[in-house]
Amino acid sequence: MILITGGAGFIGANFVLDWLAGRDEAVLNLDKLTYAGNMETLASLRDDPRHIFVKGDIGDSALVAGLLARHQPRAIVNFAAESHVDRSIHGPEDFIETNIVGTFRLLEAVRAYWNGLEGEARAVFRFLHVSTDEVYGSLAPTEAAFTETHRYEPNSPYSASKAASDHLVRAYHHTYGLPVLTTNCSNNYGPYHFPEKLIPLMIVNALAGKPLPVYGDGMQVRDWLYVKDHCCAIRRVLEAGQPGEVYNVGGWNEKPNIAIVNIVCDLLDELRPKNDGGSYKTQITYVKDRPGHDRRYAIDASKIQRELGWKPAETFETGIRKTVQWYLANPDWVAHVQSGAYRDWVQTQYATS
Ligand code: NAD
Ligand code: DAU
Repeated sequence: MILITGGAGFIGANFVLDWLAGRDEAVLNLDKLTYAGNMETLASLRDDPRHIFVKGDIGDSALVAGLLARHQPRAIVNFAAESHVDRSIHGPEDFIETNIVGTFRLLEAVRAYWNGLEGEARAVFRFLHVSTDEVYGSLAPTEAAFTETHRYEPNSPYSASKAASDHLVRAYHHTYGLPVLTTNCSNNYGPYHFPEKLIPLMIVNALAGKPLPVYGDGMQVRDWLYVKDHCCAIRRVLEAGQPGEVYNVGGWNEKPNIAIVNIVCDLLDELRPKNDGGSYKTQITYVKDRPGHDRRYAIDASKIQRELGWKPAETFETGIRKTVQWYLANPDWVAHVQSGAYRDWVQTQYATS
């Protein structure tokens, strides 16, 4: 089996669902169920014996050691993190605790486990760390896209905490020989995206008749990748990546934020026209900028294509249409994650072992 951390969050849950749709190898899913983790996303796996869910913290050394000893995973994919830049600006401490201390404790438990493996089990074991393009900092408009050798220059508490975790992962390979893989990916979008992030926030606010808050001048550029393409890239790196290597993952799809918001509005105008015949674009509202807002990210994903044969299957046009259609078809999921009531239910439903 494989151990997934953070598998009730946006990307982790998509990964678990896609993994079990494509193969029978079981998944042990360790997730703390913070506000960002939602068991409802995994509801289709409730009676599936291939999915073992454990509510717990990657920083809980005893819990992690016990899980590793009991389940003997052949690989670990570490998605668990505090992931929202704006939250890291308001309160960085959770980011330090999970992204840095939590990753460190997880690495220590994994190192002890891996040291105890022998023969083939030790040789094939992999620890894949899921990271972000934000560790590379901000690009000037004409600067070349981030390659794997770009300097680290994180600018937010979130990206600094992810950079620290990347460095720890690298050091555990260099010093202890732990067979690690690191992926640094651009902005994901798709089903089950928590509506605090740009694209789902714009969809749910538009439908609710609320303002669509665009930070600053809306000309910050991000590279967007459909979440299932990211999951596919991670599977490919897990399968064929070289231990100690870093792989940048991206969609070759740079767009300014205001263009994204306009595309979402155009799709909603087509798929769920407003009663008054107007456009959702009338709800766009420019608001105060994010402090320290990175101007541009761009990923050069040629290494993973060249060495592992991965490239995105979706264009932005196909991926964003699927995404808007998914939100239109799943208003209950949106309502539940927004209410927080579901989290309370889960709190009483799952034990920590
Ligand atoms: P998310 O916030 O949607 O989900 C994070 C999950 O981790 C949640 O289920 C949460 O409950 C869990 N978690 C948090 N702290 C934990 C802890 N201490 N122990 C166990 N579980 C914990 O995040 P996401 O968008 O799915 O991102 C997943 C990973 O991918 C993160 O490491 C993030 O840095 C990285 N990443 C995200 C994007 C993106 O666009 N969303 C892009 C590149 C990389
Ligand atoms: O680049 C990868 C990163 O992408 C991941 O590492 C992060 O976990 C993920 O959250 C995401 O970070 P961003 O800060 O780029 O994503 P977010 O959706 O928060 O914002 C995208 C852009 O949209 C950013 O320039 C800020 C802007 N924005 C965001 C929100 C929430 C707005 O203009 N208005 C908003 O209300």
